[in-house]
Amino acid sequence: MKLLVIGSGGREHALVLKLAQSPHVTQMWCAPGNAGIAQERTEKTKKPVECVNLAADELPKLLAFAQEKKADLTVVCPDNPLALGIVDLFQKHGLRIWGVNQKAARFESSKVFSQKFMEKYGIPTAAAGTFYDVAVAKKFCASLGGKCVVKADGLALGKGVLICANLAEAEKAVDEIMVSKAFGVAGSRVVIQEFLEGIEVSLHALCDGTTAKIFPTSQDHKRAFDGDLGLNTGGMGTYSPTPFLSDAQLAAAAKKILDPFLRGCAAEGIDYRGLLYPGVMLTKDGPKVLEFNARFGDPETQVYLTRLENDLVELLDASVSGTLGKMELKWSPQASVCVVMASGGYPGSYAKGKVITGLDAANAVPDTKVFHAGTARAGDSIVTNGGRVLGVTALGQDLKAAQAAAYAAVEKIHFDGAHFRRDIAAKAFPREPVA
Ligand code: AMP
Ligand code: GLY
Repeated sequence: MKLLVIGSGGREHALVLKLAQSPHVTQMWCAPGNAGIAQERTEKTKKPVECVNLAADELPKLLAFAQEKKADLTVVCPDNPLALGIVDLFQKHGLRIWGVNQKAARFESSKVFSQKFMEKYGIPTAAAGTFYDVAVAKKFCASLGGKCVVKADGLALGKGVLICANLAEAEKAVDEIMVSKAFGVAGSRVVIQEFLEGIEVSLHALCDGTTAKIFPTSQDHKRAFDGDLGLNTGGMGTYSPTPFLSDAQLAAAAKKILDPFLRGCAAEGIDYRGLLYPGVMLTKDGPKVLEFNARFGDPETQVYLTRLENDLVELLDASVSGTLGKMELKWSPQASVCVVMASGGYPGSYAKGKVITGLDAANAVPDTKVFHAGTARAGDSIVTNGGRVLGVTALGQDLKAAQAAAYAAVEKIHFDGAHFRRDIAAKAFPREPVA
């Protein structure tokens, strides 16, 4: 099979590596890819994965490329092309493509749509309202005692979610989103949720329209600095599994979320084939969905795919065909930890073009893989080319071992201004006693 993968981050590198290991794959392209993806080869034919200089949102050009190369399957990773309808476009031209269609992508591209869907079909979520009017929105914030989360409706590049501690902050957030339009047209409508206390986990389920297969749990670290301080980022590190849900509790949570989800999709005529990634808060009243994403998480994918034992091409193919019911997901009992190394200043402004050294030494740490995110090649060097630069990922017999290996590899890598959190996976361990 010839495969085209769309995207350029650490998630895409992890997907490319896993797909390239499949004996079904003879040739692969990635648009636009990155310097690490360009170093991979298909295991069967040893052909290099070719990076193609097309952006993930250049839909007509991507279609023309897939047609010219006769790609047997295109795998779409980022939210933007999914929301723009790349799946519908490829299907209209008779091409096989994995990812959600435009209607299904609304679970991520519209928070108002998602919130209303969850309420209509009884999916456990925060108490919330959806608003078009500033005064009514502020009144609702007051009814929650001011402690709430204000969310702009559309895709706002991971931003557009403002957490408010009191009514003054909440009113300011409503003004910023709905009046000043700080996140553009995404702010014409808002969702306001009660603030939920608890432990946040990422769930992933692979869907084929009628079946959803839940993954083990993972946990992201969204804030920039140790101890969950600093600004929200795309994710500074992940680990899997987490100790917060037993297998039975995960199965129960999946039933409470995924059964009504699939029932609702059937009732609304939504053919959900792709990945469903609910962000979930484990509250004292049980798991509650904060939001849905309609794609693999980044950096959740890095830890999931290092643990996944199935052939990923076969799973994605079954997701497209509607035959997932016959498959069983198999996971390594090993734990996986991913530490993101970011450019100094991220998630604010940062410099690019810093030379990265120590990648070979880091990859030589046993059971470790350095996934590239924002990297590029400059002559003989690999240089930084984005905010999140690398996802240093290690497997271990338990979380402690995986964490130690990941940090041993991180220590070998250098670039000017590199910053990373030193507490990835620390929440999984009971507090060490103070001597
Ligand atoms: P979202 O993009 O909706 O997942 O929101 C981004 C982040 O804001 C989440 O990962 C949570 O950490 C936090 N968040 C969102 N909604 C809530 C809520 N209702 N209560 C507490 N924290 C929230
Ligand atoms: N890990 C956060 C995200 O993928 O949205």
